[in-house]
Amino acid sequence: MTSTPGALPNNSPLPSTTAGGFGAGILGLGLCVPDRVVTNDDLARMVDTSDEWITTRTGIRERRIAGPETATSDLAVSAAQEALKDAGIEAAQLDLILCATTSGDYVWPATACVVQQRIGAVRAAAFDLAAACSGFCYGMAAAAGFIQTGAMRRILVIGADMLTRQTNWEDRGTCILFGDGAGAAVLGPCAPEEGILASVLGADGSGVDMLLIAAGGTRRPMTREALEEKKNTIFMRGREVYRFAVEVVPEAIEEALRRACLRPSDVNLLVMHQANIRILTAVAERMDIPMEKVFVNIEKYGNTSAASIPIALAEAAAQGRLHKGDVVVTAGFGAGLTWATNVLRWNREENRPHPCPIAIGAG
Ligand code: ACO
Repeated sequence: MTSTPGALPNNSPLPSTTAGGFGAGILGLGLCVPDRVVTNDDLARMVDTSDEWITTRTGIRERRIAGPETATSDLAVSAAQEALKDAGIEAAQLDLILCATTSGDYVWPATACVVQQRIGAVRAAAFDLAAACSGFCYGMAAAAGFIQTGAMRRILVIGADMLTRQTNWEDRGTCILFGDGAGAAVLGPCAPEEGILASVLGADGSGVDMLLIAAGGTRRPMTREALEEKKNTIFMRGREVYRFAVEVVPEAIEEALRRACLRPSDVNLLVMHQANIRILTAVAERMDIPMEKVFVNIEKYGNTSAASIPIALAEAAAQGRLHKGDVVVTAGFGAGLTWATNVLRWNREENRPHPCPIAIGAG
């Protein structure tokens, strides 16, 4: 059995949970995006928009869109297998699979159960977590709780979404934003001073109608009228969501850093939900964090919802931007409205070859 740098050995007894106990850190990362690239120019042939408008207003140049034969779990399984390989553990060692998604394979059961069967995680419990674009950060915080209390040892947290299946392709205000993808992280015990040091989770349900898919639930079942009115697709009050993000994200990051006894100037890498480059810039400016310390890949993938932060983490690791001891902050925000931040002391030596992004799916 291989061991994972930065982790406690696989079968070692867990340290005492008293007086600091043990930490919960990321042991492996993976990502998967479809191979079909859709550029801004491609979209400009479908709706009244332009590459110039999309690039300057959002920072997005292209996104990946899965072919009709691909489902969310297909992307999630590939990302999960990469993360397991990166962590050097077998699927059968997992205690839990937690899949953050709001665009799962089915209304129910959970996509996490589909993944559990397909990767052979025979011992793992599995459930989905619906916190939209904040889902992966919510999931990391939940997984840390299970691990730090000693209830579980190995947890696979996945962020996977295919919001392009829920997009109104006639609405130029939203159809330019989204892309498909999945990212995954294996979490497990690490030294108490490393891994996830603090988390801040929040929600404001008064913003439910700012960003939602109105039909398909019990409030408004999927009727012919609902379909004709496109109520089965994403509705967003973009300006309000923008204002919410720029206000709440810095506050959440500052609070999480405070809980970890750290300051914004201590941050080595800020990995935010990739929704709009202007949001990333505004948050960084407000916190006085230079953009060199902000991870940006929005130009390649657009907004992949719950997948955007684990994809960004996997790419940051592959690019050698994460080093043992670094302070890494993840920050998500999205429908609900929800937000979530984790402060991590990076627990892995990123000194070995990493999996390259793999691509599946068809045009
Ligand atoms: N191409 C050209 N013009 C456009 C387009 C487009 N694709 N979309 C909108 N416009 C027009 C509008 O019609 C409007 O024209 P008008 O002034 O004549 O009425 C003008 O551009 C400005 O529109 P705004 O909506 O004010 O544009 P804004 O600068 O706010 O950018 C955007 C819109 C990109 C959506 C921005 O508001 C945003 O990023 N909001 C946050 C979205 C977000 O972060 N979502 C995250 C959560 S997603 C989740 O949880 C699932």
